[in-house]
Amino acid sequence: MKTVEVKASKVYQVRIGGGLLPTLGDSVKAVCKAAKAAIVSDTNVFPLYGAIAAESLTKAGFDVVHFVIPAGEESKNGSVYLELVNFLAENHLTRSDCLIALGGGVVGDLTGFAAATYLRGIAYIQVPTTLLAAVDSSVGGKTAIDLPAGKNLCGAFCQPHLVLCDIDTLNTLPEDIFRDGCAEVIKYGVLYDPTLFAHLTNYGLSFHREDVIARCVELKRDVVMEDEFDTGARMKLNLGHTIGHGVEAQSHFSISHGKAVAIGMAIVTRAAAKSGACSPETADQIIAAIAHFGLPIATEYHAEALFTSALSDKKRSGGTVNLIVPAAIGDCRIIPTPVSELKSFIEAGL
Ligand code: NAD
Ligand code: GLY
Repeated sequence: MKTVEVKASKVYQVRIGGGLLPTLGDSVKAVCKAAKAAIVSDTNVFPLYGAIAAESLTKAGFDVVHFVIPAGEESKNGSVYLELVNFLAENHLTRSDCLIALGGGVVGDLTGFAAATYLRGIAYIQVPTTLLAAVDSSVGGKTAIDLPAGKNLCGAFCQPHLVLCDIDTLNTLPEDIFRDGCAEVIKYGVLYDPTLFAHLTNYGLSFHREDVIARCVELKRDVVMEDEFDTGARMKLNLGHTIGHGVEAQSHFSISHGKAVAIGMAIVTRAAAKSGACSPETADQIIAAIAHFGLPIATEYHAEALFTSALSDKKRSGGTVNLIVPAAIGDCRIIPTPVSELKSFIEAGL
């Protein structure tokens, strides 16, 4: 097992290893004095892991209730959120009780937002069961639900009390969903770590899970500790996301987040090479790595459509979009780009 400590507005551990889920109860007990624990999960994950989680919590002395949402992004909305907080109120959870987010990024973001707002804030524990949630969404305290106007538009920063990542749960992930998480893993290599990038290009899908997840979490920890509230360095985590969100939106979310980020990274990288921001060799390496994981590197959508969607991205600030652009493997730059130049930048990368 590997442990990474995050010292943000809350200090907490991220534990990564096999066989951790059956230890959930004792682990939660050590970080919070709750009497009741509400497990929030989805219709795919709860049948697989709900009983192990509930049994462990019960054994540790918690009174356990559970709330299961339909699997999928569609559940990350205002009405499911209200159902969840009503459920917590009906079950008399108090401020000293806790929520357990057992699932992927959808469950994690929704549960985190409920934890941030129910009774003006109660403790929550992230138990990520997708690769994406393990390396990204469970760490760093960004919580949100989607609004009809866009993804993640209503949320709060709220750090968990603990992240318990049992890598054995990844064994039941459909390969396609595992691949989606790989886009985020490649992103960390391109952003910060040539050694991680080299490991990924050498091993492909058979990379060493515990080591790689722990390394990604360390990298995210460093960014979150530098810029918890996303006003500077944390923006780099959006490599590939501005254009990726455009791809997701254009596909009406039939293209997954991971695949859209992969396409976004490839477009930004090609545009960077054309503008001289990175060498053609670096661009080839990045694009080859994305393709090596079976992720897409191109899109059928036109620059105009991607540009329009990118404009509604949260990262826009007035007339400027902060694009994250690779200079070399492990070295990316935040380039404030006038909106008037964004379309031609996207065009160059298609
Ligand atoms: P997800 O939570 O929808 O999970 C993907 C699918 O895998 C679902 O159908 C789920 O039921 C299933 N699943 C999960 N774990 C499983 C397991 N162990 N075995 C079998 N099936 C399993 O999607 P995701 O990719 O984990 O997360 C995407 C969400 O994360 C998006 O809403 C995105 O906005 C959010 N996100 C948040 C942050 C953040 O910092 N908060 C960062 C990145 C992404
Ligand atoms: N996933 C982006 C962030 O946590 O900032």
